[in-house]
Parts: sequence; structure tokens; C-alpha cells
Amino acid sequence: MTSTNTSERTTTATVGSVSEFAVGDMKMAKVGERRIAVIRTQSGIHALDNACPHQGYGLVTGALADEMVVCQWHNWKFDVRTGQCTQGEEDVACHPVTIDGDDIVVSVTEPTPEETRSATWPSLRRGIEANYIGQVSRDTARLLNAGARPQDILWEGIRHGAPRAEWGPGHEMAMAADCLTIGLERSGDDQALALVQGISGLAEVARDRKPHELPSPDASPDFQQAVEEEDIDAVRAKALAWIADGVDPKLVRHEFITAASRHHLGYGHGIIYVQKTFELLDHVGWDKAADLLPHSATATAWETREDLLPYMRKAMRVIDAAHLDAMARVERSAVWEDPELVDRLLDIEQPPIEVAIEAVMAGAGIAGLLDALSIASARRMLRHSLEVEFLDDDSFGWLDITHVMTMTNAVRWAWSVDPGPHVARLALFATWLLFDSSRGEQRHGIEEEVVATPETGDIHNAIRFRDTQAALNAVAALDPSTAGDQLIDAALADQSGAFIVVAHQIKLSLAAKLEAEATGSHLPLFAAARYLASPRNERFVRRNVTESLDFVRTGKPPQR
Ligand code: FES
Repeated sequence: MTSTNTSERTTTATVGSVSEFAVGDMKMAKVGERRIAVIRTQSGIHALDNACPHQGYGLVTGALADEMVVCQWHNWKFDVRTGQCTQGEEDVACHPVTIDGDDIVVSVTEPTPEETRSATWPSLRRGIEANYIGQVSRDTARLLNAGARPQDILWEGIRHGAPRAEWGPGHEMAMAADCLTIGLERSGDDQALALVQGISGLAEVARDRKPHELPSPDASPDFQQAVEEEDIDAVRAKALAWIADGVDPKLVRHEFITAASRHHLGYGHGIIYVQKTFELLDHVGWDKAADLLPHSATATAWETREDLLPYMRKAMRVIDAAHLDAMARVERSAVWEDPELVDRLLDIEQPPIEVAIEAVMAGAGIAGLLDALSIASARRMLRHSLEVEFLDDDSFGWLDITHVMTMTNAVRWAWSVDPGPHVARLALFATWLLFDSSRGEQRHGIEEEVVATPETGDIHNAIRFRDTQAALNAVAALDPSTAGDQLIDAALADQSGAFIVVAHQIKLSLAAKLEAEATGSHLPLFAAARYLASPRNERFVRRNVTESLDFVRTGKPPQR
């Protein structure tokens, strides 16, 4: 017998007789649409959702041990009195039982979306903290079903991960930013996948780390000086003061971009991380800035200053002498054209800094230079030697080239939101990085570029089965936006084992889509397709061992 009463959300049903239900018995009963596990133990009669919160198998097919029901599919254990999970990841819903004469009466109240959300946020946080991706996935699905905002779901990962990042937020934060950008454009399963991919990197990197402690806000330090001096407390205190004092986010963004332009930071990562920090904050709202901004400022201060290394000295003399103000003032001319610029930027003999400056001043402007860098980086990826990728005595590889495109995209972002001489300097750093990506060619020669012939095909399958030519041909047969989305889908689909490789695949495929839109060329997409479909090194233990042994035995640093 089932009767609905008390409220629209509550269903009450008689599910059996006390006299026919012995201690140790378990049975499944339906209350409205819900399947309920009715269980009698020494402590009484209890009602739990029958679906195990792990994968949904029925609890009544499990075993009972005192007050514990065991789901034997994967050995999760639940206290029948409370539904609390004592081994496993999530609690199971527990429902009130009343005894009416000999009748066992169970009431099930469907939670409102708000109740579901408030019950699920803590569970999601626990899942992120423990790096339980199954739990994170289930809670993400529950929250999306209950109307939570995608940006709030992903932000739980940032809130946990950013303060725990050892040297400030890095690839995991950048990947999360891209995953949120992608997730906001998707719906259903695709949206959930993008969000969980983003959270997974944050959870993996932060696991078992303690959060950095933050100082009190302090507006007195000079931010640029504090970054220069690596005065981390001052850097963080200043970032917090900007937020507390309600300083215009555009001014804060200008300070961050300026700080990232003073040195060539982290092999191109400096401006990429600033871009991703502010893109994240654009998505979630400035009111959450305190969770991320002071930590991102830490990364900016602590990143390697590559411009101080000997191999950049010559290029830095040219960059330091460049008239950045004049460069930044040049508008891209409608009549400017230089069909040879990309070839000249691909010079492997000399860093083409003067070439870049001349092109800007001749009418390319910063925007035209960025287009040329984007195309040049794509062409370098299309001629990267797969043999070099696997040479034991040469650590040069794909990731040394893909960063040129992601950095170019970051500089393009900086130019769009905060144009000026500081961004002109960043464009020259990107020009240097393009030259630096020629190290493989300098040592082993230049290969023919791979060329695409439009042919309808399944991009995802071509990538999955490492058919680079088919992947390129399928990209060529599609419009750039559709091809870009399919490359992003392939990047999200876990075809790589190492987090760092997945992160680069997602970052590159999104940057390639944006760069294809900006340049009007398919080449960035061809380059991303080739990278995704090609064999590549995904773990770097062997390289570390080889380099370490060499160093320990001979004192020789590794070859760049
Ligand atoms: S389905 Fe119950 S433990 Fe896995």
C-alpha cells in the first residue's frame, strides 16, 4: 500500500510487517518511484536508498554485519542507522521509519534542488580533497542537475588547489581555466566532463599539500618592486589589499601583465598564467579573487627569469633597446603585407627579434606580428621530427614547441585587454620563444612540413589511432570552429596518461581554435591535430634518470 500525504514532496508507504521481518533481514521496497532497502538489525528497522551511491548497485544484494551494510561490488560500507559511509566515499540517503501496529511505514521526502545542492557541496569538497575523481564526477552531475552554476563547481577546485600549489598555481590552474571556458560553452555530459577534467588536475596536484598561509592585506608595498625582489609576503599582501580596497580589477590586471612583462618568465608560462587567472576571474566574478589572486602573484614572483640566462643575453640586448612605445603605437595597416615574414621568423640561425621589430614598425603592428608568430609556431609543429621526439640523448620535444602557440595566444589576450609597450615587450619574448623552439631543427635539421588534403573523416578516431594524416585531412574538411571543437573533445577524452600531457593537449587545442579564428588560417588547427595524433613522450622518468646520472658522474648540466 502506498499513500501520498503530508506534502507534495513526501511519499509514505507501508513496506511490510514487523512480525514477518526478522533481525538480519533485508528487502527492497518501492516508495513512490524510489527503491528503498529496508533492513532490520538489533537496533531496529532502517530504510536507506537501495542504490549504492558509488555505482548504483542494490544494497540489498550486499551483506549485513551488525549495524553495517556492505555493498559487495566494491566493498563500500554504510551504517544502517544513519546512512554514513564508513568505508568508501559518499553517504547513502537514510529515510524515517515508523511502526504502526504491525506495519513498517517508510517516508521518503524528495529534496528540493537547494537541499540537494547544500548536501552535495561538502561531499564535492571531500572528493576534491581526497582526489576521488569518481566522487567528484558524481557530485558534479548531482550539482548540475540541481541547477548549480558550472563556474561555482569548478571554483571548488581552485579554492582547494590554488593555495596549495607549491610555487603558485601553474599548469593545473591554466588547464582548469580552459576547462571552464570550454564547459561554459557546452551542456550535458560534455559540460560535466570539461569541469571534472579541470578539477582533476587541481585535486591531483594539491593532494596532501598544506595551504600557504596568507598575510593581512597591506597596500603599502610597490607591487612591481615586491615581485622583482621575490618578497612573497608583500606581493600577497598587496594583492589582498587591492581586493579589500575595491581597486578597479582592470588596474590590477594591468599590474599583473606588467609584472609578467619585466622578465621572460617560466619559458613563456608567466603571461599564460596571468591570462588564465584573469579569465577565471572573469567567469566566476571578482568577489572570489582572494581565493586565487595572491597565489597567482606568488607564481609571477617565483617563476624562472629566463632572460637572465646566458643564452638569452644577445636577444635581450635587442629587446632592451627596442622602442616599445613606438611599437605599441603602430596600428596594423590595412595595406601592410609581407609574405616572407613567417619564413624569416622561422630562422634557425639568429633570434629574429630585429625582424619582428621591423615588421611591427613597417605596418604589421603588434597584432600582425602575433598573427605571424602563430602561423610560424604552427608550421614548426607541422615539421617537428618525430624521430627527435624519441632520441635518448636529446630532451627536446613537442612541449618545447607547443608553448609558442599558447604564449602567443596569451600575448594576444594581453594586447586585447591592456595594450601598451609592456605587451610589445611580451610579443618580443614570444618571438624569442619561437626561435628557442628551433633547437631540435638546429641540431637535427629541418623536415618537410606535413600538408593536409581535405577529406571527410572522424577526427577523434584518427587521433585515437594515431593517424596524423587522417586527422589533418579531417580538420581541413571542416570549418575552423567545428574542427577546433572536435580537437578540444579529443583532448578532453583522456588519450594520455600523464596529467601534464593532458593539460598541454587541452591548452593547445583551445589556443589553436582561438588562433585559427584570429588569423583566419587552418594552420594552428593542423598543428594541434598533429600534436594530438602523434606519438610522444608522456613520462619523463627515464630522461630524469639519464640526465641525473650524467650530471652526478661528470658534473655536466643537461643539454637544453
Ligand atoms: S556499487 Fe557499491 S561499492 Fe561499488
